Amino acid sequence: MIKLNEVTHIDNVKLSEDGKKVIIIDQTKLPNVTEYLALGSDKDIYDAIFELKVRGAPAIGICAGYGIYVLAQNIKEDTFDEFYREFVKYKEYLNSSRPTAVNLSWALNRMEKVVLLNKDKTTDEIIKLLGEECRAIHKEDIKMCAAISEYGLSLIHDGDGILTHCNAGPLATSRYGTALGPLFLGKEKGFNFKVFADETRPLLQGARLTSFELEKAGIDVTLICDNMASIVMKNGWVQACFVGCDRIAANGDAANKIGTSGVAILAKYYGIPFYVLGPTSTIDLNCRTGEDIEIELRDPEEIRSKFYKEPMALKEVKCYNPAFDVTDHNLITGIVTEKGICYAPYEKSIKELFE
Ligand code: MRU
Repeated sequence: MIKLNEVTHIDNVKLSEDGKKVIIIDQTKLPNVTEYLALGSDKDIYDAIFELKVRGAPAIGICAGYGIYVLAQNIKEDTFDEFYREFVKYKEYLNSSRPTAVNLSWALNRMEKVVLLNKDKTTDEIIKLLGEECRAIHKEDIKMCAAISEYGLSLIHDGDGILTHCNAGPLATSRYGTALGPLFLGKEKGFNFKVFADETRPLLQGARLTSFELEKAGIDVTLICDNMASIVMKNGWVQACFVGCDRIAANGDAANKIGTSGVAILAKYYGIPFYVLGPTSTIDLNCRTGEDIEIELRDPEEIRSKFYKEPMALKEVKCYNPAFDVTDHNLITGIVTEKGICYAPYEKSIKELFE
Protein backbone atom coordinates (compact mmCIF):
# COMPACT_ATOMS: atom_id res chain seq x y z
CA MET A 1 0.00 0.00 0.00
CA ILE A 2 1.53 3.34 -1.07
CA LYS A 3 0.99 6.14 1.42
CA LEU A 4 -0.54 9.55 0.65
CA ASN A 5 2.88 11.14 0.90
CA GLU A 6 4.36 8.68 -1.58
CA VAL A 7 1.64 9.46 -4.13
CA THR A 8 2.14 13.22 -3.83
CA HIS A 9 5.92 12.82 -4.09
CA ILE A 10 6.00 10.38 -6.98
CA ASP A 11 8.98 11.00 -9.30
CA ASN A 12 7.08 11.24 -12.58
CA VAL A 13 9.75 13.33 -14.35
CA LYS A 14 13.28 14.09 -13.18
CA LEU A 15 16.85 14.48 -14.38
CA SER A 16 19.31 11.62 -13.93
CA GLU A 17 22.03 12.33 -11.38
CA ASP A 18 24.61 13.11 -14.07
CA GLY A 19 22.07 15.38 -15.83
CA LYS A 20 22.41 13.47 -19.10
CA LYS A 21 19.04 11.72 -19.21
CA VAL A 22 15.42 12.51 -18.44
CA ILE A 23 13.93 9.86 -16.19
CA ILE A 24 10.19 9.36 -16.45
CA ILE A 25 7.69 6.91 -15.08
CA ASP A 26 6.05 5.22 -18.10
CA GLN A 27 2.42 6.25 -17.59
CA THR A 28 1.20 3.95 -20.36
CA LYS A 29 2.09 0.95 -18.17
CA LEU A 30 0.29 2.15 -15.04
CA PRO A 31 -1.43 0.96 -12.93
CA ASN A 32 -0.18 -2.58 -13.53
CA VAL A 33 3.54 -2.01 -13.94
CA THR A 34 5.75 0.73 -12.50
CA GLU A 35 8.56 1.17 -14.97
CA TYR A 36 11.03 4.04 -15.27
CA LEU A 37 12.56 5.03 -18.60
CA ALA A 38 15.78 6.96 -19.19
CA LEU A 39 15.44 9.24 -22.20
CA GLY A 40 18.66 10.41 -23.83
CA SER A 41 17.98 11.09 -27.51
CA ASP A 42 15.70 13.58 -29.26
CA LYS A 43 13.61 10.69 -30.61
CA ASP A 44 13.29 9.10 -27.14
CA ILE A 45 11.98 12.36 -25.72
CA TYR A 46 9.68 13.12 -28.66
CA ASP A 47 8.21 9.59 -28.61
CA ALA A 48 7.70 9.63 -24.84
CA ILE A 49 5.60 12.80 -25.15
CA PHE A 50 3.78 11.76 -28.34
CA GLU A 51 2.95 8.29 -26.97
CA LEU A 52 1.78 9.75 -23.62
CA LYS A 53 4.44 7.92 -21.62
CA VAL A 54 4.77 11.32 -20.03
CA ARG A 55 1.58 13.33 -20.18
CA GLY A 56 -0.45 16.07 -18.51
CA ALA A 57 0.27 19.65 -19.52
CA PRO A 58 2.67 20.68 -16.72
CA ALA A 59 4.57 17.35 -16.81
CA ILE A 60 5.02 17.67 -20.58
CA GLY A 61 6.51 21.15 -20.05
CA ILE A 62 8.88 19.91 -17.36
CA CYS A 63 9.95 16.96 -19.51
CA ALA A 64 10.57 19.25 -22.49
CA GLY A 65 12.66 21.61 -20.33
CA TYR A 66 14.82 18.77 -19.05
CA GLY A 67 14.83 17.23 -22.52
CA ILE A 68 16.22 20.24 -24.35
CA TYR A 69 18.87 20.61 -21.63
CA VAL A 70 19.94 16.98 -22.14
CA LEU A 71 20.08 17.50 -25.91
CA ALA A 72 21.92 20.82 -25.66
CA GLN A 73 24.76 19.04 -23.89
CA ASN A 74 25.27 16.92 -27.02
CA ILE A 75 25.63 19.90 -29.35
CA LYS A 76 29.22 19.87 -30.50
CA GLU A 77 29.29 23.25 -32.27
CA ASP A 78 31.50 25.92 -30.74
CA THR A 79 30.30 29.23 -32.11
CA PHE A 80 27.14 30.73 -30.68
CA ASP A 81 25.35 30.82 -34.05
CA GLU A 82 26.06 27.16 -34.74
CA PHE A 83 25.04 26.16 -31.22
CA TYR A 84 21.85 28.19 -31.46
CA ARG A 85 20.95 26.73 -34.87
CA GLU A 86 21.18 23.18 -33.47
CA PHE A 87 19.32 24.19 -30.31
CA VAL A 88 16.42 25.58 -32.36
CA LYS A 89 16.26 22.35 -34.41
CA TYR A 90 15.84 20.31 -31.24
CA LYS A 91 13.39 22.83 -29.83
CA GLU A 92 11.17 22.71 -32.91
CA TYR A 93 11.29 18.93 -33.04
CA LEU A 94 10.21 18.54 -29.40
CA ASN A 95 7.61 21.28 -29.79
CA SER A 96 5.94 19.33 -32.62
CA SER A 97 5.31 16.28 -30.41
CA ARG A 98 1.88 17.46 -29.19
CA PRO A 99 -0.02 20.62 -30.19
CA THR A 100 -2.60 21.42 -27.51
CA ALA A 101 -0.84 21.74 -24.14
CA VAL A 102 0.77 25.17 -24.20
CA ASN A 103 3.15 24.23 -21.37
CA LEU A 104 5.28 22.44 -23.98
CA SER A 105 6.10 25.57 -26.00
CA TRP A 106 6.04 27.71 -22.84
CA ALA A 107 8.88 25.66 -21.29
CA LEU A 108 10.86 25.43 -24.53
CA ASN A 109 10.54 29.19 -25.09
CA ARG A 110 11.83 29.82 -21.57
CA MET A 111 14.84 27.64 -22.32
CA GLU A 112 15.46 29.41 -25.64
CA LYS A 113 15.34 32.78 -23.90
CA VAL A 114 18.20 31.66 -21.64
CA VAL A 115 20.28 30.89 -24.72
CA LEU A 116 19.48 34.20 -26.41
CA LEU A 117 20.12 36.30 -23.32
CA ASN A 118 23.58 34.79 -22.93
CA LYS A 119 24.98 35.09 -26.44
CA ASP A 120 28.21 36.52 -25.09
CA LYS A 121 28.91 33.44 -22.90
CA THR A 122 30.67 30.19 -23.81
CA THR A 123 28.65 27.12 -24.76
CA ASP A 124 29.59 25.48 -21.45
CA GLU A 125 28.32 28.47 -19.52
CA ILE A 126 25.06 28.53 -21.52
CA ILE A 127 24.53 24.82 -20.84
CA LYS A 128 25.05 25.39 -17.13
CA LEU A 129 22.41 28.13 -17.19
CA LEU A 130 20.04 25.87 -19.12
CA GLY A 131 20.46 23.27 -16.36
CA GLU A 132 19.47 25.87 -13.78
CA GLU A 133 16.45 27.00 -15.82
CA CYS A 134 14.93 23.55 -16.31
CA ARG A 135 15.33 22.78 -12.62
CA ALA A 136 13.67 26.13 -11.85
CA ILE A 137 10.70 25.28 -14.12
CA HIS A 138 10.20 22.08 -12.12
CA LYS A 139 10.58 23.77 -8.72
CA GLU A 140 8.14 26.51 -9.71
CA ASP A 141 5.58 23.92 -10.78
CA ILE A 142 5.79 22.28 -7.36
CA LYS A 143 5.03 25.65 -5.75
CA MET A 144 2.24 26.42 -8.23
CA CYS A 145 0.52 23.09 -7.57
CA ALA A 146 0.73 23.67 -3.80
CA ALA A 147 -0.88 27.11 -4.13
CA ILE A 148 -3.59 25.84 -6.51
CA SER A 149 -4.36 23.07 -4.01
CA GLU A 150 -4.88 25.62 -1.23
CA TYR A 151 -7.15 27.84 -3.34
CA GLY A 152 -9.08 24.82 -4.62
CA LEU A 153 -9.60 23.47 -1.12
CA SER A 154 -11.19 26.76 -0.09
CA LEU A 155 -14.01 26.05 -2.58
CA ILE A 156 -15.20 22.73 -1.15
CA HIS A 157 -16.39 21.26 2.15
CA ASP A 158 -15.75 18.12 4.12
CA GLY A 159 -17.89 15.28 2.80
CA ASP A 160 -18.44 16.85 -0.64
CA GLY A 161 -18.65 14.72 -3.76
CA ILE A 162 -16.23 15.90 -6.45
CA LEU A 163 -16.32 14.78 -10.06
CA THR A 164 -13.13 14.91 -12.12
CA HIS A 165 -12.27 14.06 -15.71
CA CYS A 166 -8.94 12.74 -17.09
CA ASN A 167 -5.94 13.02 -14.78
CA ALA A 168 -4.64 16.23 -13.26
CA GLY A 169 -2.86 14.73 -10.27
CA PRO A 170 0.77 14.12 -9.28
CA LEU A 171 1.52 12.08 -12.42
CA ALA A 172 0.47 14.96 -14.67
CA THR A 173 2.23 17.69 -12.73
CA SER A 174 4.55 18.00 -9.77
CA ARG A 175 3.60 16.74 -6.34
CA TYR A 176 -0.06 17.45 -5.51
CA GLY A 177 -1.38 18.15 -8.98
CA THR A 178 -3.91 20.76 -10.02
CA ALA A 179 -7.49 19.43 -10.13
CA LEU A 180 -6.63 16.65 -7.67
CA GLY A 181 -4.40 18.84 -5.50
CA PRO A 182 -7.20 20.08 -3.21
CA LEU A 183 -8.28 16.48 -2.64
CA PHE A 184 -4.80 15.33 -1.56
CA LEU A 185 -4.32 18.43 0.56
CA GLY A 186 -7.79 17.98 2.06
CA LYS A 187 -7.00 14.38 2.91
CA GLU A 188 -3.86 15.53 4.75
CA LYS A 189 -6.03 17.94 6.74
CA GLY A 190 -8.56 15.26 7.63
CA PHE A 191 -11.30 16.05 5.08
CA ASN A 192 -13.24 13.17 3.56
CA PHE A 193 -14.23 13.75 -0.02
CA LYS A 194 -16.07 11.31 -2.26
CA VAL A 195 -14.50 11.50 -5.68
CA PHE A 196 -16.07 10.33 -8.94
CA ALA A 197 -13.42 9.71 -11.58
CA ASP A 198 -14.58 9.58 -15.19
CA GLU A 199 -12.69 6.73 -16.87
CA THR A 200 -11.91 9.14 -19.75
CA ARG A 201 -12.21 7.35 -23.07
CA PRO A 202 -10.34 6.55 -25.23
CA LEU A 203 -7.03 6.45 -23.35
CA LEU A 204 -8.49 5.89 -19.88
CA GLN A 205 -6.38 8.37 -17.93
CA GLY A 206 -9.16 8.49 -15.32
CA ALA A 207 -9.29 4.73 -14.86
CA ARG A 208 -5.58 4.02 -15.16
CA LEU A 209 -4.14 7.06 -13.39
CA THR A 210 -6.66 9.12 -11.39
CA SER A 211 -8.36 6.21 -9.64
CA PHE A 212 -4.90 4.70 -9.02
CA GLU A 213 -3.54 7.87 -7.42
CA LEU A 214 -6.62 8.47 -5.26
CA GLU A 215 -7.12 4.86 -4.20
CA LYS A 216 -3.45 4.51 -3.23
CA ALA A 217 -3.67 7.73 -1.23
CA GLY A 218 -6.64 6.38 0.72
CA ILE A 219 -9.14 8.85 -0.79
CA ASP A 220 -12.70 7.58 -1.39
CA VAL A 221 -12.83 7.23 -5.19
CA THR A 222 -15.48 5.69 -7.40
CA LEU A 223 -14.62 5.01 -11.02
CA ILE A 224 -17.42 5.66 -13.49
CA CYS A 225 -17.70 5.47 -17.27
CA ASP A 226 -17.85 8.88 -18.93
CA ASN A 227 -21.54 8.42 -19.78
CA MET A 228 -22.41 7.98 -16.08
CA ALA A 229 -21.51 11.53 -15.05
CA SER A 230 -25.10 12.65 -15.59
CA ILE A 231 -26.62 10.05 -13.27
CA VAL A 232 -24.25 10.71 -10.37
CA MET A 233 -25.01 14.43 -10.72
CA LYS A 234 -28.75 13.76 -10.87
CA ASN A 235 -28.47 11.58 -7.75
CA GLY A 236 -27.15 14.62 -5.89
CA TRP A 237 -23.76 13.00 -5.27
CA VAL A 238 -21.64 15.76 -6.84
CA GLN A 239 -21.15 19.15 -5.18
CA ALA A 240 -18.39 20.40 -7.51
CA CYS A 241 -16.47 19.43 -10.65
CA PHE A 242 -12.69 19.92 -10.66
CA VAL A 243 -10.81 19.53 -13.95
CA GLY A 244 -7.36 20.41 -15.24
CA CYS A 245 -6.51 22.25 -18.44
CA ASP A 246 -4.10 22.19 -21.34
CA ARG A 247 -4.53 25.72 -22.64
CA ILE A 248 -6.69 28.59 -21.45
CA ALA A 249 -7.51 31.40 -23.86
CA ALA A 250 -7.57 35.08 -22.88
CA ASN A 251 -11.40 34.98 -22.62
CA GLY A 252 -11.41 31.99 -20.25
CA ASP A 253 -12.28 29.27 -22.78
CA ALA A 254 -10.35 26.22 -21.57
CA ALA A 255 -9.06 23.23 -23.53
CA ASN A 256 -8.84 19.99 -21.61
CA LYS A 257 -9.20 16.27 -22.27
CA ILE A 258 -11.98 15.33 -24.67
CA GLY A 259 -15.25 15.04 -22.78
CA THR A 260 -14.56 17.89 -20.37
CA SER A 261 -16.95 20.29 -22.09
CA GLY A 262 -19.72 17.69 -21.84
CA VAL A 263 -19.14 17.48 -18.08
CA ALA A 264 -19.38 21.29 -17.89
CA ILE A 265 -22.67 21.30 -19.81
CA LEU A 266 -24.11 18.66 -17.46
CA ALA A 267 -22.88 20.57 -14.42
CA LYS A 268 -24.61 23.72 -15.64
CA TYR A 269 -27.87 21.79 -16.11
CA TYR A 270 -27.70 20.35 -12.59
CA GLY A 271 -26.53 23.65 -11.03
CA ILE A 272 -23.17 22.23 -9.91
CA PRO A 273 -20.13 24.55 -9.82
CA PHE A 274 -17.54 23.68 -12.44
CA TYR A 275 -13.94 24.71 -11.75
CA VAL A 276 -10.90 24.60 -14.02
CA LEU A 277 -7.62 24.37 -12.11
CA GLY A 278 -4.26 25.12 -13.70
CA PRO A 279 -1.07 27.13 -13.39
CA THR A 280 -0.67 30.45 -15.19
CA SER A 281 1.81 28.65 -17.48
CA THR A 282 -1.29 27.07 -19.05
CA ILE A 283 -2.81 30.44 -19.95
CA ASP A 284 -2.07 31.52 -23.50
CA LEU A 285 -2.87 35.18 -24.06
CA ASN A 286 -2.01 34.72 -27.73
CA CYS A 287 -5.24 32.74 -28.05
CA ARG A 288 -8.05 35.25 -27.90
CA THR A 289 -10.74 32.55 -27.62
CA GLY A 290 -10.92 28.77 -27.67
CA GLU A 291 -11.31 28.96 -31.46
CA ASP A 292 -7.58 29.72 -31.64
CA ILE A 293 -6.57 26.54 -29.77
CA GLU A 294 -5.29 23.71 -31.92
CA ILE A 295 -6.94 20.40 -31.06
CA GLU A 296 -4.80 17.30 -31.38
CA LEU A 297 -6.23 14.52 -33.55
CA ARG A 298 -4.99 11.05 -32.69
CA ASP A 299 -4.79 7.57 -34.17
CA PRO A 300 -8.23 5.98 -34.82
CA GLU A 301 -6.88 2.70 -33.40
CA GLU A 302 -7.15 4.29 -29.96
CA ILE A 303 -10.93 4.06 -30.44
CA ARG A 304 -11.19 0.87 -32.50
CA SER A 305 -8.86 -1.53 -30.77
CA LYS A 306 -6.59 -0.15 -28.05
CA PHE A 307 -7.18 -1.79 -24.65
CA TYR A 308 -9.51 -4.40 -26.20
CA LYS A 309 -8.56 -8.08 -26.48
CA GLU A 310 -9.94 -7.97 -29.98
CA PRO A 311 -10.97 -4.98 -32.13
CA MET A 312 -14.35 -3.51 -31.20
CA ALA A 313 -14.97 -1.94 -34.60
CA LEU A 314 -14.28 -2.81 -38.18
CA LYS A 315 -10.81 -1.84 -39.32
CA GLU A 316 -12.31 0.22 -42.15
CA VAL A 317 -14.81 2.13 -40.02
CA LYS A 318 -14.26 5.87 -39.98
CA CYS A 319 -13.28 7.33 -36.58
CA TYR A 320 -12.93 10.84 -35.28
CA ASN A 321 -10.51 11.00 -32.38
CA PRO A 322 -9.93 14.52 -31.04
CA ALA A 323 -7.84 14.37 -27.87
CA PHE A 324 -9.19 17.60 -26.37
CA ASP A 325 -12.21 19.86 -26.40
CA VAL A 326 -12.76 23.45 -25.37
CA THR A 327 -15.10 24.34 -22.53
CA ASP A 328 -16.84 27.63 -23.16
CA HIS A 329 -15.99 30.22 -20.50
CA ASN A 330 -19.74 30.70 -19.83
CA LEU A 331 -19.83 27.21 -18.35
CA ILE A 332 -16.89 27.78 -15.99
CA THR A 333 -17.63 28.91 -12.41
CA GLY A 334 -14.02 29.80 -11.67
CA ILE A 335 -10.45 29.30 -12.91
CA VAL A 336 -8.14 28.39 -10.03
CA THR A 337 -4.51 29.42 -10.54
CA GLU A 338 -1.52 29.70 -8.22
CA LYS A 339 -2.12 33.46 -8.10
CA GLY A 340 -5.76 33.22 -7.07
CA ILE A 341 -9.19 32.35 -8.41
CA CYS A 342 -10.46 34.13 -11.53
CA TYR A 343 -14.15 34.72 -11.99
CA ALA A 344 -16.13 36.15 -14.90
CA PRO A 345 -15.60 38.43 -16.73
CA TYR A 346 -12.52 36.33 -17.49
CA GLU A 347 -10.96 38.71 -20.00
CA LYS A 348 -10.52 41.14 -17.12
CA SER A 349 -9.65 38.71 -14.30
CA ILE A 350 -7.15 36.76 -16.42
CA LYS A 351 -5.47 39.95 -17.63
CA GLU A 352 -5.12 41.09 -14.03
CA LEU A 353 -3.16 37.92 -13.19
CA PHE A 354 -0.34 39.11 -15.43
CA GLU A 355 -0.28 42.72 -14.27
O1 MRU B 1 -3.67 13.66 -23.27
P1 MRU B 1 -3.26 13.96 -21.86
O2 MRU B 1 -3.37 12.78 -20.96
O3 MRU B 1 -1.90 14.63 -21.78
O4 MRU B 1 -4.33 15.03 -21.37
C1 MRU B 1 -4.17 15.56 -20.09
C2 MRU B 1 -5.27 16.43 -19.66
O5 MRU B 1 -6.18 16.73 -20.38
C3 MRU B 1 -5.14 17.02 -18.29
O6 MRU B 1 -6.38 17.23 -17.71
C4 MRU B 1 -4.40 18.36 -18.40
O7 MRU B 1 -3.20 18.22 -19.07
C5 MRU B 1 -4.14 18.96 -17.08
S1 MRU B 1 -2.87 18.12 -16.18
C6 MRU B 1 -2.66 19.02 -14.78
